[in-house]
Amino acid sequence: MKALLLENVHPLAVDLLTEAGYEVETRSGAMDEDELIAALDGVSLLGIRSKTEVTDRVLQAAPELQAIGAFCIGTNQIDLLSAAGRGVVVFNAPFSNTRSVVELVIAEIIMLARRLTEKDTALHNGVWDKQATGSHEIRGRKLGIVGYGNIGSQLSVVAEALGLQVFFYDTDDKLALGNAQRCSSLNELLDNAEVVSLHVDGRPGNAGFFGAEQFARMRPRSLFLNLCRGFVVDYQALADNLRSGHVAGAAVDVFPDEPKSRGDAFGSPLQGIPNVILTPHIGGSTEEAQEDIGRFVATKLRDYLGLGTTTLSVNLPSLSLPQRPGDRRIVHFHVNSPGVLAKINGLLGDHGVNIEGQVLNTLGQNGYVVTDVAKLPEHLIEELSAMPETIRLRVL
Ligand SMILES: NC(=O)c1ccc[n+]([C@@H]2O[C@H](COP(=O)([O-])OP(=O)(O)OC[C@H]3O[C@@H](n4cnc5c(N)ncnc54)[C@H](O)[C@@H]3O)[C@@H](O)[C@H]2O)c1
Repeated sequence: MKALLLENVHPLAVDLLTEAGYEVETRSGAMDEDELIAALDGVSLLGIRSKTEVTDRVLQAAPELQAIGAFCIGTNQIDLLSAAGRGVVVFNAPFSNTRSVVELVIAEIIMLARRLTEKDTALHNGVWDKQATGSHEIRGRKLGIVGYGNIGSQLSVVAEALGLQVFFYDTDDKLALGNAQRCSSLNELLDNAEVVSLHVDGRPGNAGFFGAEQFARMRPRSLFLNLCRGFVVDYQALADNLRSGHVAGAAVDVFPDEPKSRGDAFGSPLQGIPNVILTPHIGGSTEEAQEDIGRFVATKLRDYLGLGTTTLSVNLPSLSLPQRPGDRRIVHFHVNSPGVLAKINGLLGDHGVNIEGQVLNTLGQNGYVVTDVAKLPEHLIEELSAMPETIRLRVL
């Protein structure tokens, strides 16, 4: 089977898929719709990063495509519903760069507490500004983490190891790690924290979630970090609070309108304000994260094609079933409607086939069932394929 990997996917992914028996073709750049349609002829696995759009038209023109690996975090570039409706499984790498973001947050908290960017700029300009005033240790400081998911909870652990006292607020009920203290509201967190770090997800409801009211509620002279999504913060309000001195420093990695390419012009109300660290959305951009993304997504693609495992798929029901040697495996995507499993099992029974193992899961409009059998009588697969609810069927 053929795999096509675009956009300089990490070489580890090429090695893993080659080892698994795929003929792997790589291209360094992204492709437009027409190029992609032509290139997908005969391709079972497609690997992309953020710049290749996989539209409904592309999916319609690529009936042999079984799975797509987004070798990145976001999957907005893929028409997930169209892919699901065609039984094309999509995987991404949701936590390969978690540690990279956490390390940058920790570094920036220390840099802000020591006003390092100011010292650095002064010395580059020939000014020897040796003084302790306004420089602080972070040990014992109160860190407020907003959003206690993959990144927030990992930050909690590393920050505690450095002696910070952690408070967190999450809209979901989350396990408090170590000595971290849960806050029942954002205001409770803002009343306590001396450093506020945002790690919420990009759901539309979070647009403008942190603005003038929340900055005003922060403790005077506290620090603010946003390495999650640009549109969740009102940066004009942050700039006003930095200039007034209410917020003592800020680190910002994400912006509502980010330039498309390296070298493009960039503007923000935060530019030129002392003790503000601005970075071009590089929180998760490390070589280690890229390698882990390559490993993570390639392994998911390999296990889906080889075993039917869809664990952590972003668009189709997630499941896995251990396989016994010698069994044949039927993987079946279908429209999620009542009675499909009964129909499948009825056909198996009609052919005198015993089910050795079976697992079903559903997600929205889609159902997925993996069935292990000891024998595959003639016509069984044709009959299962002919069921009106069948979207895609493979035998492994
Ligand atoms: N700067 C970068 O390079 C970079 C890299 C990776 C991830 N990110 C961003 O970091 C953010 C966090 O990533 P993650 O992997 O931890 O995500 P996650 O989905 O694991 O965690 C997000 C958490 O935020 C919580 N949440 C959502 N809205 C909230 C709200 N209004 N108030 C309180 N809690 C809320 C959710 O319940 C969840 O626990 C995402 O926005 C992601 O896009 C940025």
